[in-house]
Amino acid sequence: MAVLPIITAPDKLLKLKSKPVESVDSEIAKLMDDMLETMYLAPGVGLAAPQIGVTKRIIVVDVGKTEEERAPYRMVNPELVWTSDELSLYEEGCLSLPDHYADVERPERIWVKYIDETNTEQELEANGLLATCIQHEIDHLEGVLFVDHLTSLKRNMILRKLQKVKKMKAAAAE
Ligand code: NI
Repeated sequence: MAVLPIITAPDKLLKLKSKPVESVDSEIAKLMDDMLETMYLAPGVGLAAPQIGVTKRIIVVDVGKTEEERAPYRMVNPELVWTSDELSLYEEGCLSLPDHYADVERPERIWVKYIDETNTEQELEANGLLATCIQHEIDHLEGVLFVDHLTSLKRNMILRKLQKVKKMKAAAAE
C-alpha cells in the first residue's frame, strides 16, 4: 500500500465532477487500499478520489474510533437512493481544508447504492456520523466541498486563509 499526497483547497481539481467507474478491477481495488491508508494516516474518516487527483467516482469511509473498531467501506459509483427528511447537524472537517471546521446540516439517514472492491453491487442504510460522512464524500465527486454548504462570507473567509497558507508554503519551498 502507499500513502498518496492530498490536494488542498483552493484547487481547480477539487471542483471537477468525477466520472463513473466502468468496472472494479485490481487497479481500482489497490487505489482504494491506498486511499484508506492515506486516510488513516492523515487521520480522517473519509476520502474521495478527487482529493488525491483522481477524478473517478470512488470514496472510502471509516468512522471507527480506534484501530480495533475499524470498519472500512470502499465505495465505487456511490449513489444516494433515499435520504430522510429529518436533518442532523455535525461539525465537519475535510482533509482538503486542513484546520477548518464548521457545522453542516444534512439528512440524518440515507440509503446508498454502490459497487464494492469485488465489483459486487451493495446497498447500505446508514445514519449518524456514517451517513454524514458518506454524503460529504459523495459531494466531493460533484466538486462540492463542505464550505459550499456555508454562507459565502464564511466560505470565502476559510478559502482566503487556505490560499494564504499555500502561498506561505510555496514561498518557504523556494
Ligand atoms: Ni472532504
